[in-house]
Amino acid sequence: MENGSSGSALLEVIGLEVVYHRAVTAVQGVSLTAEERSITALVGTNGAGKSTTLAAIAGFMRAEDVRITEGDVLFDGASIKGRRNDQISAMGIGYVPEREKIFPTLSVLENLTACRPRSGSDRAMSIEQVYDLFPRLAERPNTIAGYLSGGERQMLAISMALLGGPRLLLIDEMTLGLAPIVVESLVETVTRLRDEHNVTILVVEQNASTGIEMADYIYVMENGRIAFDGPPDRLLQHEDFQEFYLGMEREGGRKHYQDVKQYRRKRRWFG
Ligand SMILES: Nc1ncnc2c1ncn2[C@@H]1O[C@H](COP(=O)(O)OP(=O)(O)OP(=O)(O)O)[C@@H](O)[C@H]1O
Ligand SMILES: [Mg+2]
Repeated sequence: MENGSSGSALLEVIGLEVVYHRAVTAVQGVSLTAEERSITALVGTNGAGKSTTLAAIAGFMRAEDVRITEGDVLFDGASIKGRRNDQISAMGIGYVPEREKIFPTLSVLENLTACRPRSGSDRAMSIEQVYDLFPRLAERPNTIAGYLSGGERQMLAISMALLGGPRLLLIDEMTLGLAPIVVESLVETVTRLRDEHNVTILVVEQNASTGIEMADYIYVMENGRIAFDGPPDRLLQHEDFQEFYLGMEREGGRKHYQDVKQYRRKRRWFG
C-alpha cells in the first residue's frame, strides 16, 4: 500500500467525469483514493476541477445543471454516486465547501446548535469537543459569525461538519487567504482529527507546500485530470512539482511567473 497509513481505502473515486451544462467537462476521468485515517491533499491551479471533484463526492453540486457522466464514487466499498448530499452526510461524510459555509447572521453557538445531528451516531461530536479542538471558538460563542475573521470562520465551518461525527471529512480550500499562524493551527487540528479522532481527511489545497506539510498523500490536478500523484517525499523529487508548484530555486534561478503560465499553456494543449 502506498497511500496513507492503515492500508484500507475509505474513499475510492474511479474514473470520475463531471459535466456542467452538458458542455463543460470540468472533471475528466479522475481516480483517487483516501486511505482510512490519512490526510490526502488535492492540489492544483485555479479551474483545475478540485472543487467540482469534492462537490461530486459530497453529492453537493449547487449549479442547476451539473452531472456525473462517468465513473463511480465508493465509500467504504459501496457506491454513493448520485445520492443526495443529506444522505451522503448521514452516511458519515462531512463537507466544508469553498464558500457560503456558515450562517453569517447567527452566533457561533447558534451555528453549531443548528448543525447538531438529530439522531445520535456513536461518532457524533459534542460542542464541547469541537471547542476543545478550536479554543478560539470557545472564547466567542456569542459572536455573530459574519463578524468572525477568515480563520475563525473556517474553524466554525469545520466544527459544523464535525458535529455529525464524520468518518470522512472533505474540506475545500482549507487555508486560502489565511495568515501563516492560522494555517499552522488548522494543519495541527486536522492532524489531531486524523490521529485522535480517526477521521479520514481529503483536503483541497492551493498552497502546494502546505499540502506537502500536512498530507500523507497528494494528487496534483490540472485541467480536469490528475497530472501526477505521490507521497510528499516522492513529489518533492518530482521536477514539475518543484518548478511549477513549489517554485524552488534551481541552477537557472527561480522560475518566472511567465514560465509558469507558459507551462500551464503547454499542458493545456499537449497535456
Ligand atoms: N457552475 C458552473 N458552471 C459552469 N462551469 C463551471 C461551474 N463551476 C465550475 N465550472 C468550471 O469547471 C472548471 C473547474 O472548476 P472548479 O471550481 O472545480 O475548479 P477549482 O480547481 O476548484 O478552481 P479554484 O482553485 O479556482 O477554486 C472550471 O473551468 C470552471 O470554470
Ligand atoms: Mg475551487
